[in-house]
Amino acid sequence: MKIGTALTRSATRVMLLGSGELGKEVAIALQRYGVEVVAVDRYPNAPAQHVAHCAHMIDMTDGEAVKRLVEMEKPDIIVPELEAIATEALAEIEQGGRAEVIPTARAVCLTMNREGIRRLAAEELGLPTSPYAFADSLDSLKSAVQAVGYPCFVKPVMSSSGKGQSLLRGDADLEKAWEHAQSGGRVKDTKVIVEGKIEFDFEITLLTVRACNGDAGVATYFCEPIGHRQELGDYVESWQPQPMSGTAIAEARRIAKVVTDNLGGRGVFGVELFVKGDRVWFSEISPRPHDTGMVTMITQAQNEFELHARAMLGFPVSTALRNPGASAVIYGQVEGEGIVFDGVGEALTVPETEIRLFGKPISHPRRRLGVALAAGNPIEEARNRATTAVGLIKPLVG
Ligand SMILES: Nc1ncnc2c1ncn2[C@@H]1O[C@H](COP(=O)(O)OP(=O)(O)OP(=O)(O)O)[C@@H](O)[C@H]1O
Ligand SMILES: [Mg+2]
Repeated sequence: MKIGTALTRSATRVMLLGSGELGKEVAIALQRYGVEVVAVDRYPNAPAQHVAHCAHMIDMTDGEAVKRLVEMEKPDIIVPELEAIATEALAEIEQGGRAEVIPTARAVCLTMNREGIRRLAAEELGLPTSPYAFADSLDSLKSAVQAVGYPCFVKPVMSSSGKGQSLLRGDADLEKAWEHAQSGGRVKDTKVIVEGKIEFDFEITLLTVRACNGDAGVATYFCEPIGHRQELGDYVESWQPQPMSGTAIAEARRIAKVVTDNLGGRGVFGVELFVKGDRVWFSEISPRPHDTGMVTMITQAQNEFELHARAMLGFPVSTALRNPGASAVIYGQVEGEGIVFDGVGEALTVPETEIRLFGKPISHPRRRLGVALAAGNPIEEARNRATTAVGLIKPLVG
């Protein structure tokens, strides 16, 4: 693929639909190739908009608004960064040849709904998953839970970051779980998935890249597995590489290859897997860089954002690990607009540590506002460094 010059007639233009912290790093990677970046979000001054050539604010679930903006900006490539997007509009844009959607409109559509991706993985592709059933009322939830058994999770089919999720241990939890799902889903009267709880040893994200391999077409590349710890449905810490058996890593790669082959296109995928000994279960997949993959900013020469940029532009990639490392999340901790971070200098005295602050205009106690990255060997040292650095940073009301 040829690259034009940004802000001229020849520009290669990429439109980010969603401009959060992951989009910000994708924008930076694209900027380095002289790509023109258009950053879209629903609110002004979203992180990626700080580093883009141009910003727009629209409701991305409004198909007409998305199509109008694409007509106006005429991007070559559209990169969805959010799950809540008018996917029919993306399919129409892709079909009409107006822009390329990364990885594909179908992949974005299937993965935004837990039912779509779960049925594809388990029923069509025959991959191992937790037992599951769907329900669209409290009554049908009771029979779905009976079929799956306790303990189990109830999740809105359209939600992310743990919103509306509950862990159920017995019948007494049913009603509360149904109500919680209704309040946390992206749409009213949301359908839910019931998933049997997998008693895993650990969970990983296997970053999988579909990228051009010279004349051989598109090839699949795997990063080293990323281990992570989740709290309240959100990742708080991740590290790479996660040690695992040779059998388990081969199985994880097999699963990731089968799903990503089916989803197609080019780009980075975050394949979420549960591991117990040599056994691996498919959980879900993001057709884009993954939050737990922020650790690659310190562990890989080509981090997941660089990999995504290269893959979408048709360039070759390398997923090689440079050194082991860890990431830990910096939360807002306070409520406020334009907050101030104290202690960043102290945090940077921790050896081999870096800090990223995303620039989100508004802070909430559980909002992710930054991340600490640390190299270290063994992994324990990297994890200690990253969490120590986070502990030294104090968000204050400005
Ligand atoms: N069936 C399951 N068995 C065991 N643990 C589970 C199961 N489902 C979810 N979990 C736990 O809850 C976490 C969040 O679940 P899941 O990834 O489905 O939610 P999510 O809302 O998509 O989260 P995110 O957007 O952060 O990836 C998982 O990473 C895992 O720790
Ligand atoms: Mg998840």
